[in-house]
Amino acid sequence: MGFLSVLSMAHKWIAERTSPGDIVIDATAGGGVDTQALAALVGPNGTVYAFDIQQEALDRTYERLSAHEGGSKLPDVTLVLENHARMVEAVDPAIVGQVSAVMFNLGYLPGSSDLTIITEPATTLAALDAAIRLLRPGGIVTCVLYPGHPGGAEEAASVEAWAAQLPQSLAQAVTYRQSQRPAAPYLVALEKRPIAAK
Ligand SMILES: C[S@@+](CC[C@H](N)C(=O)[O-])C[C@H]1O[C@@H](n2cnc3c(N)ncnc32)[C@H](O)[C@@H]1O
Repeated sequence: MGFLSVLSMAHKWIAERTSPGDIVIDATAGGGVDTQALAALVGPNGTVYAFDIQQEALDRTYERLSAHEGGSKLPDVTLVLENHARMVEAVDPAIVGQVSAVMFNLGYLPGSSDLTIITEPATTLAALDAAIRLLRPGGIVTCVLYPGHPGGAEEAASVEAWAAQLPQSLAQAVTYRQSQRPAAPYLVALEKRPIAAK
């Protein structure tokens, strides 16, 4: 049967912590596959933001959402042409601390004319900090890492180190990875702790 792919596992962990009407964020819209899945998950009463620094990615995401078919109706998705490091500043201030899931799928836009535009460790870590701030207690951040492309291994290592130093009182961090394939994509996920009862 085999284990779930890292992307499928990210979607599964998000689905387990998300309900219709919730607020979710795609930090790397790319071709819009993840944005579409998040939008279907929260449904027409949900709120979805999708960030990318490339207009081409947001255009592709818009086209994918417009072509959506199937049983589920989608909410209006807010497409944001902005670095995800500025996530907190870019969203409605009222949603800070209310977000159920923030999804990162790092690397470059497949099929892009400029494959040198990739996620970078410094802004990725700033965006992960922002994502934790935005989460509600019990909410999840997923981050799919690609150690196989140039610069990817360094970025993945920096994300792992960032996750390892997070206080356990703030969030629980886990890694989902194929042990025998060190260059294969893998997943780091964080669940924000519930507020401790006094
Ligand atoms: C692997 S793709 C994402 C795939 C996408 N989630 C999907 O379902 O198709 C990574 C995307 O991250 C975007 N990106 C790179 N740096 C970024 C940044 N600092 N802020 C937001 N997006 C960024 C790239 O432009 C690219 O479109």
